[in-house]
Amino acid sequence: MIQGICFDLDGVLIHTDELHYLAWKGLADRLGVPFSREQGDRCRGVSRMQSLEIVLEHAGRAYSQEEKERFAQEKNEAYRAMLEALSPADVPEDVPPTLEELRRRGCRLALASGSKNAGLILARTGLGTYLDAAADGNHITRSKPDPEIFLTAAQMLGLPPERCAAVDDAVAGIQAGRAAGMVTVAIGDSAAHRAGDYDLERFGQLLDLFPGPGKEEGL
Ligand code: BG6
Ligand code: MG
Repeated sequence: MIQGICFDLDGVLIHTDELHYLAWKGLADRLGVPFSREQGDRCRGVSRMQSLEIVLEHAGRAYSQEEKERFAQEKNEAYRAMLEALSPADVPEDVPPTLEELRRRGCRLALASGSKNAGLILARTGLGTYLDAAADGNHITRSKPDPEIFLTAAQMLGLPPERCAAVDDAVAGIQAGRAAGMVTVAIGDSAAHRAGDYDLERFGQLLDLFPGPGKEEGL
């Protein structure tokens, strides 16, 4: 019986995955480096510095560690400027009622995001009010596909990982949830790759999966 649900943030609770892509694309354009949507999809779930390596894959030259750190900082500043414009109106409309209903059914909800900017996003959008705990990139040393973020989120909920589900739009995130011993729910890009134990088309379908303690698990 699933008692806790651990949600990725970017691309699951809000479409900040697109803002990550636009910020990396801005850097790639400035450097004159080709950067495709497919590369953007591979940046899902992985750390900022790992994302930068993907962005620089088709650079015609090597960059020093110092230059890479400057590029990552430049991207993060552009990304945070976009985040400042976020408001509760940017949360997809099925997300708040679905989270509220899951909680009403007795599920405990946590954030399990590898982003160091998650706190800013939760604050600007009000999403934090729907969650019982929040684990983010500031709490971990190993990014997805390592299970650390999902194990940290389960621990914050006070639940064993086997009693939790991991919801993630990144293939790396689904791998992380599985490595943590959780039931995995794919949505968006990871669902397109059929990566999860369950692959959803819409966020609201979580209500079909988790009818709540005391009832038989759905789907
Ligand atoms: C994840 C994103 O949520 O956070 C990745 O899917 C990103 O694309 C990672 O690289 C780290 O984010 P940030 O905001 O700390 O640079
Ligand atoms: Mg994501």
